[in-house]
Amino acid sequence: MNGASRSGDIFRDGLAPDGAPPDDIPLREIAIPGPGVKLWLVDVAPDPTVLRAAAAVTSEEELARAERFFRLEDKARFLIARATLRRLLGRRLGRRPSDFDFAATAHGRPYLAHRPELSFNVSHSGSHALVALSDGRPVGVDIEAARDLPDALDLSGLFFHEAEHRAIASRPDATERLAAFYRVWTAKEAVLKALGLGIAGHLKNFEIALEPSGPRLARIESPLAAALARASVLPVEAPPGYAAALALV
Ligand SMILES: CC(C)(COP(=O)(O)OP(=O)(O)OC[C@H]1O[C@@H](n2cnc3c(N)ncnc32)[C@H](O)[C@@H]1OP(=O)(O)O)[C@@H](O)C(=O)NCCC(=O)NCCS
Repeated sequence: MNGASRSGDIFRDGLAPDGAPPDDIPLREIAIPGPGVKLWLVDVAPDPTVLRAAAAVTSEEELARAERFFRLEDKARFLIARATLRRLLGRRLGRRPSDFDFAATAHGRPYLAHRPELSFNVSHSGSHALVALSDGRPVGVDIEAARDLPDALDLSGLFFHEAEHRAIASRPDATERLAAFYRVWTAKEAVLKALGLGIAGHLKNFEIALEPSGPRLARIESPLAAALARASVLPVEAPPGYAAALALV
């Protein structure tokens, strides 16, 4: 598991014998209005010191996966987010970050092989990642770099619930429509990730209403009605240029 014995990977060059301390990964806790869940924002830009710290706590398999990405930014996004998850799980469970084995569901949601009931979720986009840990209810997070999307309305018409599409279309200008699009998008993805599903096939089965206090689950249609009966979406303060949401189910 541990990085100490690996060889020949791009992250090892210049690594101190025991690896850089994992606390070199820049991390900030974000306040969440509700008990039982904690959220952290991580800078995943490819800084060499941070990459070495991340490589020191990730597994051979994770390093191999990172190396398969073509762009350094993509390698860093995956590796630093995964190392941060390990560090936070280590703190929570009183173990070393390198000690964990992850498995994944058929839809790709990672879980701890020896603690499958412990819920966590990761999202990354641009130069940021979010990592959430929940004490009880399954958690999902999503962060998106809010790049300009000239066809945002076409996309919401095609993929979102019709009430969401109408709400986005009713905004007075393109800037507000784009912001509304990303708020709905991140809330929907956080909900589906909390359920451990993918985005394909379920986007129209529930409605996110955008209220001044944040996104709210407004309407749920089958087949998700039972699974989302207790679900909630919590607002997340995203960095400038990003949208983010967290859901508990
Ligand atoms: C989950 C999903 C919506 C995330 O998409 P995204 O916006 O590109 O990525 P994000 O950065 O927000 O999230 C990725 C992280 O979510 C987690 N994740 C992956 N699949 C997940 C799922 N089904 N549910 C919850 N979380 C998931 C992982 O930790 C992943 O990060 P990692 O690969 O670095 O560990 C997308 O990957 C998806 O639709 N997956 C489902 C695919 C599927 O159903 N496959 C089965 C084929 S039958």
